[in-house]
Amino acid sequence: TTPDLNEIHDFLVSLAHRAGEIITNALPETSGTGSKKNSADLVTEYDRAVEKMISTSLEEKYPDYVFHGEETYDSNRPLTDAPTFIVDPIDGTVNFVHSFPYACVSLGFAVGRVPAVGVVYNPFTKTLHSAIRGQGAFLNRETRLPLKGENVEPLSGLANALISIEWGSDRSGPNWDTKVRTFAKLGQAKEDGGAMVRSMRSLGSAALNMCAVAEGTMDLYWEGGCWEWDVCAAWVILTEAGGIIVDGNPGGWKASLDGRKYLAVRGAPEAGQKEIVEEFWSNIQGRLDY
Ligand code: IPD
Repeated sequence: TTPDLNEIHDFLVSLAHRAGEIITNALPETSGTGSKKNSADLVTEYDRAVEKMISTSLEEKYPDYVFHGEETYDSNRPLTDAPTFIVDPIDGTVNFVHSFPYACVSLGFAVGRVPAVGVVYNPFTKTLHSAIRGQGAFLNRETRLPLKGENVEPLSGLANALISIEWGSDRSGPNWDTKVRTFAKLGQAKEDGGAMVRSMRSLGSAALNMCAVAEGTMDLYWEGGCWEWDVCAAWVILTEAGGIIVDGNPGGWKASLDGRKYLAVRGAPEAGQKEIVEEFWSNIQGRLDY
């Protein structure tokens, strides 16, 4: 049967609110007892509990669709073309552990590896971003994105851009080198003495970063190393708000959902998106390899 995207959207919104209750009632510890790779790569009992609640509910209501979640990911079961729920129970776990209120539940649904429904809910600020492919993107189900409506300014290059970058959880290796050298380049002056970018932010949630780009409060977001559950839901929100998502490496105009390297650019009334992608790519110092 053809998935009913509107019904799925509404069900995901209800699950996001249930997840939000668990997240805001939690008392996480900052000691990092649940680290995966290192003290920057955390998982808490709450990530697991929220994912369990979501997977149980989805498997009951939609037994024919695949469930693909961060905490139960199995590299022997990669993403396929089947209708699939792609879920990050807490995106921004480090923020969550520190009570920094920039974390969310990210609930996506993809068919043929194309994101079709996205629900991103930050329970600390009670902010819901959601979208269904072909039906626009919304803030709190009411306000159509991008927020500035018809008055969104054209993109005028990196010098005037507020951009979002992430360190991720690696602390060494070639990908880390590429990121650090790229951040340094972006933080330098141009030959004429002007700023390369207006400023950079590392706020710690891929999904919320992409929602900020969808809203138009961030101009661009670049990351290597995150996963399909970090981006699937916000992908729909961003593209429905007129933004684009391309590969995090230079030249890749078609990003793949599980490619683990992404460059997102906000919508703009006139072109400008391709130019800013090319300008950003020209500053990347190396190639990301995930
Ligand atoms: C992380 C966040 C972070 C990004 C990492 C992700 P998690 O997700 O999105 O911003 O830099 O790459 O893994 O682990 O908090 O779900």
